[in-house]
Amino acid sequence: MPQLLMNLGENSYDIVIEKGALNRIAELIPLNRKVLVVTDRGVPAEYSKKILSKCAYPFLIKLKPGEESKSPKKYLYILKKMIEFGFDRHDCVVAVGGGVIGDLAGFAAATYMRGIDFYNVPTTLLSQVDSSVGGKTAIDFEGYKNIVGSFYQPKKVIIDPDVLKTLEKRQFACGMAEIIKMFATYDRDSFDKLYSNKKMPVEELIERALKVKIDVVSKDEKESGLRRVLNFGHTVGHAIESVSACTSSPLLHGECVAVGMLCMSGGDAKKQIKTLLERYNLPTSYKCSKESLVSVLAHDKKSKKDTVSVVKVNKIGSFEIIEETHNKIISDCKGVLTLL
Ligand SMILES: NC(=O)c1ccc[n+]([C@@H]2O[C@H](COP(=O)([O-])OP(=O)(O)OC[C@H]3O[C@@H](n4cnc5c(N)ncnc54)[C@H](O)[C@@H]3O)[C@@H](O)[C@H]2O)c1
Ligand SMILES: [Zn+2]
Repeated sequence: MPQLLMNLGENSYDIVIEKGALNRIAELIPLNRKVLVVTDRGVPAEYSKKILSKCAYPFLIKLKPGEESKSPKKYLYILKKMIEFGFDRHDCVVAVGGGVIGDLAGFAAATYMRGIDFYNVPTTLLSQVDSSVGGKTAIDFEGYKNIVGSFYQPKKVIIDPDVLKTLEKRQFACGMAEIIKMFATYDRDSFDKLYSNKKMPVEELIERALKVKIDVVSKDEKESGLRRVLNFGHTVGHAIESVSACTSSPLLHGECVAVGMLCMSGGDAKKQIKTLLERYNLPTSYKCSKESLVSVLAHDKKSKKDTVSVVKVNKIGSFEIIEETHNKIISDCKGVLTLL
């Protein structure tokens, strides 16, 4: 099974992709110290138990599932517990869950005593191919997503594709949206392979997507340029996510990214991306009010005055990053968004 290396000098780390990796966790993480496992109630308890049962000094925090847990309140709760449990610089935090748990526990590990060892055991497809790797940790604050956080690389990422067996189909599809994002912008060979319907085992999909992420992050760890390619579909996607959050049927992050990618692509690339999205039952259109969409676009933290940086794909395997006005972005969305 592959072991990939995220090469970031002294912050380098291994990414283990291995079916059944959780069963040999003690060989992968030094557990002879205080270990705080952070998870949520939606993640089957057996995954945390496999780790806790191998720890010399195990501690567990189980939170409510969902984005609401990426809050200052839960962040401070984790820090408070670490103090109460007597954690010091030699101890570690292990996240067992999706991107919510990884971002939150990672931020707590990054800031407790100026940083203690952090291990990520991602359990959603999205977190396995995207959020667990690259060192972005954050919480949401004052209505802004990921507004407080830090770049803090994990010591190791352990990906066990077997845990995806319990993941809901809709959540799995969200991970596929991020995989399609990486292939569409950066890896034509993998996109073509997936497009031509060749059966690709999930572990191969994960490995191929992570190779893209590793390449991008190793060239631009702090997102000063190239790393912005990973935002393909995310400018409009985040706006749709905010608007849909206030409706009776909110869309999931990956679903919003799917629609956002279609808005920002053109030509044959757009048709091919659409075909793949439909194959995974991801949405390819969305209806909302123009006013609400423009108002959330204007609040995008990446926006400079009335323009926003967007990633465009007109040819599979390549991309352009350009500054666009809100009006131009809205006009790019024609045929994908129905604006009332
Ligand atoms: N740090 C980064 O670079 C980065 C990148 C992309 C996204 N993110 C963040 O990731 C978050 C989204 O992550 P997500 O999509 O993984 O969602 P999530 O963490 O909310 O998990 C989705 C749901 O799946 C459940 N779940 C997790 N693993 C499961 C399993 N194996 N079986 C059954 N249920 C399981 C969880 O309980 C939860 O209800 C967002 O907060 C986003 O901002 C961060
Ligand atoms: Zn995303």
